[in-house]
This record gives sequence, structure tokens and C-alpha cells, in this order.
Amino acid sequence: MARLLVTGGAGFIGSNFVHHVVQNTDHHVTVLDALTYAGNRASLDGLPEDRVAFVHGDITDAELVDSLFADADAVVHYAAESHNDNSLHSPRPFLDTNIIGTYTLLEAARTHDRRFHHISTDEVYGDLELDDPERFTENTPYNPSSPYSSTKAGSDLLVRAWVRSFGVRATISNCSNNYGPYQHVEKFIPRQITNVIRGIRPKLYGAGENVRDWIHANDHSSAVLTILDKGTIGDTYLIGADGERNNKDVVELILEQMGQPRDAYDHVTDRAGHDLRYAIDSTKLRTELGWTPQYADFESGLAATIDWYKANEAWWAPSKDATEAFYATKGQ
Ligand code: NAD
Ligand code: DAU
Repeated sequence: MARLLVTGGAGFIGSNFVHHVVQNTDHHVTVLDALTYAGNRASLDGLPEDRVAFVHGDITDAELVDSLFADADAVVHYAAESHNDNSLHSPRPFLDTNIIGTYTLLEAARTHDRRFHHISTDEVYGDLELDDPERFTENTPYNPSSPYSSTKAGSDLLVRAWVRSFGVRATISNCSNNYGPYQHVEKFIPRQITNVIRGIRPKLYGAGENVRDWIHANDHSSAVLTILDKGTIGDTYLIGADGERNNKDVVELILEQMGQPRDAYDHVTDRAGHDLRYAIDSTKLRTELGWTPQYADFESGLAATIDWYKANEAWWAPSKDATEAFYATKGQ
């Protein structure tokens, strides 16, 4: 049994990871989360108190972080400002949390010699043409486009420097777009599902040809546990489940699964600097560590996600109006 410290464990992927750990291991989890607009304590409801502790605090608080590292065997770092659209409007919190926050954690990992796993994104590699036969690999050069992805790239480079310069026992994973329960309604899939529930037409940025490589959050969680268990210190692993789809196809599928006409959506103002396509080659993770995704059927995963949002309106309703009001100011 290990004691895991999970930063950002009240967010979308972090909370799915905590549920996954409780269901599939005997580890004890302490969540450190600042409960920003994106964090929701209710995402951890129902978890046993003897397995999961919650600490409300900020990853830039060095004293608090130091005390929590002292009591942990390993740390999994999910906390971040995570939304590209917000980073275009207000970049500063992305620098504070993604850069200074990661630096603060790395210093504690160094002081206490703790195993550290850094959660990152495929967006650090920039984007691909629609017809490019290549996909991102661990050797693709960094080329981030947005304030969000550039701060994630910066945080990855800090981790690599702390491994090389100070011997910190860290690994990094860069994952593609996640979907599943507990995702904030600002993000593409939950925004469109909750729009349809509310009788609002889904909103597609630009022509909708942009491609994302979708993976279920549970598959992300199993990959992270595999890397924690078997990963090589200092290495980077790409996580993906061969789930490429363009945004137009995803909106049409959501409408179809929710019993609406497939064309009942609107095209709205495109995102500035909008990355065209992401695609992950996860051969290294699969061949070296033996990981395989279990939720590779996107249609059934999406149907289950739609059911979750229908059944959990109390979870997302408090964020919905403010999110749509913000998008309305951008013509989105
Ligand atoms: P999210 O926005 O849903 O959750 C982020 C969590 O971090 C929230 O609970 C928030 O309260 C917390 N947080 C933010 N700033 C904090 C701070 N200063 N101190 C402590 N807690 C703080 O994000 P997500 O989509 O779950 O993403 C989690 C991680 O996974 C991020 O590092 C993100 O870059 C990465 N990632 C996300 C995706 C995706 O598809 N969503 C894909 C690949 C990687
Ligand atoms: O690739 C991993 C990344 O995936 C993570 O690092 C980010 O944290 C996560 O937010 C996600 O980034 P994206 O920008 O790809 O996700 P988002 O849900 O914001 O948008 C997905 C696609 O849908 C993108 O092409 C923009 C488009 N979009 C988004 C919204 C909110 C729309 O067409 N309409 C919308 O209303």
C-alpha cells in the first residue's frame, strides 16, 4: 500500500483518477486542490474516508506542499489551469499554476526525494496537417501554440531539468483529449451535451474540421498507474487510444445519440490560433509497459457520458449559465 498525493484531484481527470485508484488498488490518496472554478468537491463524493483525504490548498503554497510531500510516497500532479479559451482571454493564472506551481512541487520532490509523475498534454507538440501520415511521438519537437499549451510545455521542461540537474525521480505523460464524467461544461463534449439538455443548439468553432484524438478518462488513469508502477525514471510516455475524430462528426454523433437532427447546430467564431489536428502514437507505452486501452469504443463511451450528464444535472447546473455568458461575450 502506498500513500499517493494527487494534485488537482477535484478536477475532471484528477477526480476520475482518484475513483480509479480506490477501485483498482489499495493505495491511500490525499487530494490537494485549490477548488478553482474548475474544481468540484462533489466529484469526490461517495469515496471512503479511510482511503481518501482532501486538503484545500494551492500548489504554489511552498510550506503546505512541503508538509504534504513529507507524508507521501509518490505524487501525481494533475493541478493546472487547463482551458485554452481561458488562456487566450486571461493568461496570467496559467503562468502562476502551471509554471510556478509545478516548480513548487518539484522543489518539494527534491527536498523529500519523492517519486513524481507529471501529467501533461499532447498540445505541447503543436498541431498536425489533416493529411499528415505522422502522429506525435516522444521524439516530436515541442511547438506549443497557446498560452495554455506553452505553460504546459514549460512545466514539462522544468520536470526534465529537475531530473537531470537534481536527480528527482520523475516521469512525464502527454495525453490526448479526454472525455467522460465530471468534465467541466466549458469543454467541448460536455458543453454540447448540456446545451442539448437545455434546448440550446451546439456550437462548433469555425468549419469544425479540427481533429482531436479522444480517449476515455479511465484509460488515462490506467495508463498513469502503469507508468507509476513500471515507468523508467526520466522518461516521457505518450498516452492515446487511436480515437481521432473531427469536431463536426462528434457534434453530429452527440445530436444523433440525443435524438436530435444531426444538423441542429451552429457554426460560431473560431478559436484564435486554433490547433488543427492532434494524433498520438502510443507505441512506447504499449510495447515497453504493456498498457492497452479498455474503453476504445468511442460511440458507447460517448453514450455513457451523455447518460451521466443527464443523471447528474445538479453537478453541472451551477456552472452552466456563467460558462455560456462568458462564451457569449466572445461570439462563441
Ligand atoms: P480541470 O481544469 O478539470 O481540473 C484542474 C484542477 O486543478 C481543478 O480541480 C482545480 O481546482 C485544480 N487547480 C487549479 N489550479 C490549482 C492550484 N494553483 N493549486 C491547486 N489546485 C489547482 O483540468 P483537467 O482537464 O482535469 O486536466 C488535468 C490535467 O491533465 C492538467 O494538467 C491538464 O493539462 C492535463 N491534461 C488534460 C487533458 C484533457 O483532455 N482535459 C488531456 C491531457 C492532459
Ligand atoms: O489535447 C489535450 C487537451 O485537450 C488538454 O491539454 C486540454 O486541457 C483540454 O482542454 C483539451 O484541449 P482542447 O482545446 O482540444 O479541448 P476543448 O474541449 O476546449 O475543445 C475541443 C475541440 O472542440 C477544439 O477543436 C475546439 C472545439 N470546440 C470547443 C468548444 C468549447 C468547439 O468547436 N466548440 C466549443 O464550444
